[in-house]
Amino acid sequence: MQNAGMAALGLNWRYLAFDVRPEDLRWAIEGARRMHFIGLNLTVPHKILALEWMDHLDASARAWGAVNTIRFEGRAPGGDWRPLRDFQEPPAEVRSHGFNTDAEAITRAIREDLGLEVAGLRVLLLGAGGAGRTAALKLAADGVKQLFLVNRTESKAVELAAEIHQRHPETGVCVGYPPGAVDLVINATSLGLGPADPPPVDASRFDLSSAGAVFDMIYRPAETPLLKAARAGGCRAVNGLGMLLYQGVKALELWTGLPAPVEVMRRALHESIYG
Ligand code: ATR
Repeated sequence: MQNAGMAALGLNWRYLAFDVRPEDLRWAIEGARRMHFIGLNLTVPHKILALEWMDHLDASARAWGAVNTIRFEGRAPGGDWRPLRDFQEPPAEVRSHGFNTDAEAITRAIREDLGLEVAGLRVLLLGAGGAGRTAALKLAADGVKQLFLVNRTESKAVELAAEIHQRHPETGVCVGYPPGAVDLVINATSLGLGPADPPPVDASRFDLSSAGAVFDMIYRPAETPLLKAARAGGCRAVNGLGMLLYQGVKALELWTGLPAPVEVMRRALHESIYG
């Protein structure tokens, strides 16, 4: 999607994937900086580790405690830092600027793909790992009314509930299944990736037909058993492709300073994942 987006913007840039061991992350970022890369994306397990190696952190990276996008910036003659795209010649001084575009992508996908604004909603969130934590904090920051947190390892849900209570005391948060209906169910567990996985919702504790909408962060397979069951019960349900798309859209906008060609990127992403 990034190469398609860059081509549509008329840029002769290339987006490449590199396998980097966690212990080499610092040197990989340093190498990219010295080679005047425009930027980087990072994925698991580098997003948290990278916090330590950034010269500068955007508020988004500080808020979510993780970096998924780096923009390299040069010092302009006036002293301010500008994206490398703005320089004809590589500048003498370059810094790394860490951002997080994941959290915003979650609510953008819910808004654009499900047609829901999260403010005021009652939400059942399954999973309290990295993705679950980011989703919970973002939903609370955006004014969700009531969050129900369910996780296999309950202590992680309890810890997350305490963090939300402290950072967003106006959000109601409890651990466990809701007693009644919710507006939205979000799956942030890895259950559904494997063909033999059990559903992430315990059907004896929660009836999926009492959910207004379902968002599954998994995008491969395109339809998880959770999505299938939700649709069979007549509820609106989308997978995580939009979330993957929108975090990339925002990253491209940070690197280029231009509006990203969202539909071009969506088509390229769809094709590369589903063929
Ligand atoms: P990510 O960064 O994608 O969130 P993660 O931090 O490893 O990855 O989190 C994976 C999530 O899936 C966790 O909520 C995890 O539950 P635990 O905290 O109990 O590990 C959940 N998960 C993974 N495998 C699971 C399984 N077999 N049954 C239930 N939950 C599972």
